Amino acid sequence: MGRVTYDFGGRVALVTGSSRGIGRATATLLAKSGADVIVHYRRDGDAARAVAAEVERHGRHAHLLCADLGSAEAVAAMMDAVARDVGHLDLLVANAAATAFKPITELKAHNVSRTLETVVHSFVALVQHAVPLMRGRGASIVTVSGFDTVRVIEGHGMLAAAKSALETMTRYLGVELAAEDIAVNGVMPGMVDTDSARTWAERTGGGDLGQDPANWARRTPRGRVAMPVEIARIVAFLCSDDARWLVGQTIVADGGLTLV
Ligand SMILES: NC(=O)c1ccc[n+]([C@@H]2O[C@H](COP(=O)([O-])OP(=O)(O)OC[C@H]3O[C@@H](n4cnc5c(N)ncnc54)[C@H](OP(=O)(O)O)[C@@H]3O)[C@@H](O)[C@H]2O)c1
Repeated sequence: MGRVTYDFGGRVALVTGSSRGIGRATATLLAKSGADVIVHYRRDGDAARAVAAEVERHGRHAHLLCADLGSAEAVAAMMDAVARDVGHLDLLVANAAATAFKPITELKAHNVSRTLETVVHSFVALVQHAVPLMRGRGASIVTVSGFDTVRVIEGHGMLAAAKSALETMTRYLGVELAAEDIAVNGVMPGMVDTDSARTWAERTGGGDLGQDPANWARRTPRGRVAMPVEIARIVAFLCSDDARWLVGQTIVADGGLTLV
């Protein structure tokens, strides 16, 4: 797991989709760095409870919240619970995402609306609920985008469109909240070794990246695929005081994949 570079003692972090993958690595690293963590998940309660236990092993408080980000009511209920049970928020990491991996010509209307609700609508609602809990605390909001916004990836058109909106909102919010000392920035991962990356490859064949992670590694100048913690470290940096002069930026963290 990640080394500790920052001190988030006394801070409260909400990491969406922290039951697995990049979100799990982020929740664990922030806890290891001193933050109390609200572990959010959709379906896999056992996995989320395991992450909460990891947070507590680092001596931090863990709150467990289940909400389908595709439901406006569920997002509002989750943020009401944060306001009621915690009362403030320092770090919001908008990490969760889901989509149907299909070419745009094959998308059904519900695939489009579901992806937009999960990634775009939920982010607006999360931020609107979070900002009143963040004021005056030198807080940070970090978005997790993806390299599909700048490269065409098999079956990723809809998610990429939603993530492009997320990157744009990162820029606008960065400016809107700058004077309130709420830092808003994002990270754009390349290929990361997670369940969903493997599921995507199985379902779509992976296009010219292929199905085999060894091929993803060959295509990446660093010569390997990122581990989730390597993205978590960028998130931690963006949450830290060292990143306070970044406003509305989305940092490419891809081992060089999009440069070649
Ligand atoms: N892996 C990569 O190669 C890669 C590359 C670029 C960008 N990214 C981005 O990085 C982020 C994390 O990716 P990952 O690979 O770590 O994902 P992952 O392993 O699939 O985990 C996704 C997380 O999001 C949650 N989630 C999914 N749909 C949700 C919904 N409707 N409501 C609430 N929670 C939901 C899942 O909860 P449950 O398990 O409970 O359903 C899970 O905790 C995503 O935004 C992804 O687009 C990943």
